[in-house]
Amino acid sequence: MPRQLPIGVLISGSGTNLQAIMDAIDDKRLDAAIQVVISNRAEAYGLVRARSRGIPTEVVDHRKFPTREAFDEMVVEILRAGQVDLVVLAGFMRLLSPVFVRAFSNRIMNIHPALLPAFPGLHVQKKAVEHGVRFSGCTVHFVNEECDEGPIIIQAVVPVFPDDTEESLSARILKEEHRIYPRAIQLYSEGRLRVEGRKVYVDGLTKEEGQVLVLPPLR
Ligand code: GRF
Repeated sequence: MPRQLPIGVLISGSGTNLQAIMDAIDDKRLDAAIQVVISNRAEAYGLVRARSRGIPTEVVDHRKFPTREAFDEMVVEILRAGQVDLVVLAGFMRLLSPVFVRAFSNRIMNIHPALLPAFPGLHVQKKAVEHGVRFSGCTVHFVNEECDEGPIIIQAVVPVFPDDTEESLSARILKEEHRIYPRAIQLYSEGRLRVEGRKVYVDGLTKEEGQVLVLPPLR
């Protein structure tokens, strides 16, 4: 029986990435067990998704804490109580303070809907459309003390068309988020990720040098 990696998932909203992770666990593509789902917003639909699977949930309302650090300490305490090994940020709309990052050094992952380091921050699908880039995508990375800056684990690339809207591009990217996030967690679970400085080395990585995308195509 493979080791079930104990994870804690942090959300603020609809939780479709949480859903993808739960589905991957059910399909045995991911050897993990969700110990707890924590939301800073009581109305986050992701909480309903978690409860319907019998996963313990906690709401920690950031507005009830005097400082970011005090909020983070509470979240860290819950994660530790759940004996969480890896913290998975899935649409969690709060910046983490050093208190949090240091408590789980190289054990926090985030998903970002752009090809980092391009378009960090918020509303990035809109920014990608407005900039006229030919490709965007999504990135799973380890979290360090800078926003959207930590070592990159996995990326997926999608085309961006001139008539795309924020909504159409977001939907195209989200579909890929749901594929790469469970994969990144599984690589961690298998002990195949090694962080050295900015780089994440993936044990057993298949290198496909011919994997090149061109838009408009050359033909
Ligand atoms: C995703 O686009 C994710 O990349 C971003 O927030 C969104 C969360 O979506 N950080 P969901 O709550 O997982 O549906």
